[in-house]
Amino acid sequence: MTDERRREKTPQATWGGRFEEPLDVVALRYSASVDVDKRLAPEDIRGSIAHVQMLAARGIVGADEAEKIAAELGRIAEEIARGEMVWDPAREDVHMNVETVLTERVGAIGGKLHTARSRNDQVATDMRLWTREACLRTAARIDRFLAVLAVRAAGTVDVLLPGYTHLQRAQPVRLAHHLLAWSEMLDRDRGRLLDAARRMNESPLGCAALAGTTFPLDRAMTAAALGFDRPMRNSLDAVGDRDFLVEAVAALANAAVHLSRISEELVLWSTQEFGFVTMSDAYTTGSSIMPQKKNPDMAELARGKTGRVVGDLVNLLVMLKGLPLAYNRDMQEDKAPVFDAFDTVDDTLDVLTGAIATARFRPERMRAALRDGFADATEVADWLAARGVPFREAHHVTGRLVGRCVAAGKALSELTLDELREEHPLFDESLYAALDFETAVERRDLPGGPARRQVHAAIEELRERLHERAVDVDAVARAAGAEARS
Ligand code: ARG
Repeated sequence: MTDERRREKTPQATWGGRFEEPLDVVALRYSASVDVDKRLAPEDIRGSIAHVQMLAARGIVGADEAEKIAAELGRIAEEIARGEMVWDPAREDVHMNVETVLTERVGAIGGKLHTARSRNDQVATDMRLWTREACLRTAARIDRFLAVLAVRAAGTVDVLLPGYTHLQRAQPVRLAHHLLAWSEMLDRDRGRLLDAARRMNESPLGCAALAGTTFPLDRAMTAAALGFDRPMRNSLDAVGDRDFLVEAVAALANAAVHLSRISEELVLWSTQEFGFVTMSDAYTTGSSIMPQKKNPDMAELARGKTGRVVGDLVNLLVMLKGLPLAYNRDMQEDKAPVFDAFDTVDDTLDVLTGAIATARFRPERMRAALRDGFADATEVADWLAARGVPFREAHHVTGRLVGRCVAAGKALSELTLDELREEHPLFDESLYAALDFETAVERRDLPGGPARRQVHAAIEELRERLHERAVDVDAVARAAGAEARS
């Protein structure tokens, strides 16, 4: 094989006259990114079509040439969608693969597509387009998760369970209130994703390699064609930063941490010790050796996969921290963590949406935990404090009563009036009514609290929020397997 032929088979041929030797084979494998970035092909082609149409509008390429290029790009996009494209790592990345196929098909005029453009503004544009859409898709998944929670909450308003601090039984709450706490957490993540999508919605196209171009481009035209709010203001910044990816992945990392915490609760609640929930068979597995086992694997995996997303965020931050302006090849490494973070959170959302939709809660076990947990101790202290006893003293008196109960194996409500009066003379019969868990919850009747009307209002408000986002709550929940049941 002559040197000339060898060179034809390497990307060096692409880079033109400067290169005399072919790229080392290991260097080729090390630098090729097409296996990962081929996922950007639809966005890459959209960007190229917008670019070439603008070139034609500005008279930089002929209208017929632009039309030919755009039509062929459209065909290539369809082939890629059908899985027919043969990706060649020797062509390095998605951009070169698409452009090479284009030129093979339309001939030398294909080479005009890259007029007044660099892969630097091209890839920055692709990533902004891809990530903007991905943020919206994940936000929609979060909405489905919230819809399931809204329906499960509606079915569990009557179910009381202990709320916990330090994982110690603390005060009674409604299960619906607990589920609505989950929905608040995820709704903020949704907001963060949409904020990131909004801020990244500016076009790098036309900034070329780093300093713009001498051609009279219409940057506003390509920005509008691609749905961006405006062209980016500074060419060095446009090709030289990836903070928009950090923002999106930070939002995902937060969501992953939230999903992990929810999963941890599902794991705990699935134990025989808690027994608050039975996950459906569709989301659990058995053990190959212990026939009695039914493991909450999906929740455990969701907890375990969080590490990847946090790792993706750290990966991006560390990749960026030492980079001078503007583009550096390090930035090619941005794609794998971004794709992985979205894939992981999207899958986790889907799995947990189904798992929560179909889980069977066990109100009787929750009630038993309330009874045994002195979750009514605050009621005793509040009862005294409401009758003028300084709260610190009331707290102390109640502590002594709890101590007695522990020693005697009793609940607070099982103490006799005489026993109560031994610790404080003010106690009378009305205390017993206050010790009722339902009463205790109902008295917490402030906005954000667990009283029935507050919880109903919160469910209604969540449904309205989802309705405004055009989410059909009941249809979504039904599709996920949820019914308004406990
Ligand atoms: N594959 C490259 C990336 O993702 C495209 C940009 C390459 N630019 C360059 N000057 N080599 O970063």
